[in-house]
Amino acid sequence: MSAESLTVVDNRTGVEYTLPIVDGAINATGLGQIKDADGAGLLSYDPAFLNTASCRSEITYIDGDAGILRYRGYPIEQVAEQAGFLETAYLLFEGELPTDEQLQKWTDDVRVHTYVHTNIEEFLAGFRYDAHPMGMLLGAVGALSTFYPDAKDISDPENRYLQRVRLVAKLPTIAAFIFRHNRGLPYVLPRNDLDYVGNFVNMTFEIGGRHEPNPVLQRALEILFILHADHEQNCSTSAVRSVGSSNVDPFSAVSAGIAALYGPLHGGANEAVLRMLDEIGDVSNVPAFIEGVKDGSAGTRLMGFGHRVYKSYDPRAKIVKALADEVFKQVGMDKDLEIALKLEEAALNDEYFISRKLYPNVDFYTGLIYRSMAFPTDFFTVLFAVARTSGWLAQWEELLNDKEQKIARPRQIYVGYGERPYTSQLTNQFPSAKKDAIRK
Ligand code: ACO
Repeated sequence: MSAESLTVVDNRTGVEYTLPIVDGAINATGLGQIKDADGAGLLSYDPAFLNTASCRSEITYIDGDAGILRYRGYPIEQVAEQAGFLETAYLLFEGELPTDEQLQKWTDDVRVHTYVHTNIEEFLAGFRYDAHPMGMLLGAVGALSTFYPDAKDISDPENRYLQRVRLVAKLPTIAAFIFRHNRGLPYVLPRNDLDYVGNFVNMTFEIGGRHEPNPVLQRALEILFILHADHEQNCSTSAVRSVGSSNVDPFSAVSAGIAALYGPLHGGANEAVLRMLDEIGDVSNVPAFIEGVKDGSAGTRLMGFGHRVYKSYDPRAKIVKALADEVFKQVGMDKDLEIALKLEEAALNDEYFISRKLYPNVDFYTGLIYRSMAFPTDFFTVLFAVARTSGWLAQWEELLNDKEQKIARPRQIYVGYGERPYTSQLTNQFPSAKKDAIRK
C-alpha cells in the first residue's frame, strides 16, 4: 500500500477503504465509494470551502501562516518593487516574465483597445448621478458582452487573447467614465501616448485639457494595482471560475467577479475601513472602539483586519503600510492615518485579536492612500476591480485549459421536509380557480 494514502474505517459498516493522497489532498469524489447500508455514498461537507481545493493552479501561491504571497513563483515584494502593472499582468497570464519585445507587443495590443463603443457612454448616462460606482461597473462590464458577441467563442485561444486584451484595456476607461459620471464631468478619452496607469489617472482627473501627474502617487497607484492583481481562489475569483465554468463569455464572468468583489467582506472592505475611521473620529476613542468590537456593541468587526488565509501579517499590508508612509510624506499627515496606526497598535497587542490571529489585511491602509490621491470612498473597490481583472482572466484561462474541470455544481445535504401532500394555505380561492381554468 502506498504511503501516500489514507485508510479509513466506516464504523457504520466496518468496511475499510484506502484513498490515494495526491499533492496533499484526497479526491472528494473518492469518498463516494464509502457507502451506507442503503448504498448512499459519503459526501464531504464544507460550507464556504474552508478546507476544499477546487482546482490545481500554477498562478499564485499563498502560505497564510508564514505570510507569503508569490505570483508565478516570484515574491510579491520583488514584483511590487520592480515590475510595472502590465508586466505583472503578462506574468500572471503567460507564466513567465516578458522580454522587451513581448512586453512591447502586449502593451501595444492593450493600447489599441482602450476606447469603448460610444453607446457605453449612453448606457452609463442612464445611471442616476449618485449610483454606486461598483453597481455601474458590474453593469457596464456585463453590457460589454453584448458589444462583443465574438467573445462567446471561448474555445479559440486567439479569440480568448483578444477578449483578455479588450477587458484589460477597457476597464480603466470605463472606471474613469464612471468617476466622471458621478461628478457630472465630461468624459476624457484615452490617451495612447501615456502608460497604463498614467492614462487611467489622466482620464480620471484631467480638467480643461490639463493634468499634472505626481510621479510618486502614480507609482504608488501602480504598486497598489500590482498588489491587487491576483490572490488565488478568493470569493470573486471563485465567482469568475464558477460562472466561467458554464462556458459563458469572459465579460459576463468578470462581471460576476465584480459583483462578488463589491461586498464589504471582500473588496468593499477598504471603503468600510474609512467609514469606520470616520466613525471613531479621534485617536482618543480607539480603546473604547476596540472594546466595542470585542463585546459586539460597536456593531462592526475591525474592518481591514483578519483574513481567511493569512493567519499572520498579510504581506501586501506590509508593502501598503510602507507605501502609505511615502505617500503621506508627499501629501501630509492625515488624522485618519493617526487613528489607523493607533488601531493597529491596539489590536496587535490585544489578546482577542492575538488569539484569533487577526492582523491587518491589504485593505487596512489602501483606503487612506486612495483618499489622499483624491479618489472618493465609494470608488476604492473599482480600483481593486481594475487591477484584479488581470488575475480573474488568468484564472479563467487556466480553468478553460484544465481538463479536470467541469461546470461547477456543489452538492448539498438536504435537511428539509420529507414528502408531504400539498394542502393550500390560501384563503383567496383565485389561484386554484385559475389552476382549474388552466387544466380545462
Ligand atoms: N474584527 C473582529 N473580529 C474578527 C474579525 C475582525 N475583523 N475577523 C474575524 N473576527 C473574529 C470572528 O468574530 C471570529 O471570532 P469567534 O471565533 O469568537 O466567533 C473569529 O475571528 C474567526 O472569524 P471568521 O469570521 O470565522 O473568519 P473568516 O475567515 O470566515 O473571515 C474575514 C475572514 C471575512 C476577512 C473576516 O476576518 C472579516 O470579516 N474581516 C473584516 C472585513 C475585511 O477586512 N475584509 C477584507 C478581507 S481581504 C480582501 O478581501 C481583499
